[in-house]
Amino acid sequence: MKTKVLMVCLGNICRSPLAEGILKNKVNPKSIFVDSAGTGGYHIGNKPDSRSIDVAKKYGIDISNQRCRKFSYSDFEEFDYIYVMDTNNYNHIMSLARNESDVNKVMLLLEENNIDIKEVPDPYYDAADGFEHVFHLIDTACIAIAMKLKTH
Ligand code: 4NP
Repeated sequence: MKTKVLMVCLGNICRSPLAEGILKNKVNPKSIFVDSAGTGGYHIGNKPDSRSIDVAKKYGIDISNQRCRKFSYSDFEEFDYIYVMDTNNYNHIMSLARNESDVNKVMLLLEENNIDIKEVPDPYYDAADGFEHVFHLIDTACIAIAMKLKTH
């Protein structure tokens, strides 16, 4: 059975689509399934933000086929690891957790990596350089996650 990883942010159009694309790019799709979702439902069915598509493309990753969806309770059953971009959304997902098994799956993405920054900042209202910063934060965390998944 595949190990399943879910990346979560607020809108599922900026950060978590990048996290999905970046991690997919580092793991074997035969053994690891990666998806993303948002806690908010403002953009369901939409493509990722063009600034996320552009920064991913700059680093050779195509995320343009992704479509926004909202996190649902069934994700707690479906996924083994749920990585959340920031504290607000972490608290939101934790408030939906129904039991210890759900709780144990939920982590802050950057805690995977021993860097001082705790959260991937919301770049939605930023210029393109905000997306560049976010790309590198997520990329660093995904290197650590990919290593862990390989040694599992
Ligand atoms: P994301 O960014 O959570 O990284 O996808 C956002 C996208 C949209 C909104 C907020 C954050 N919004 O308010 O529409």
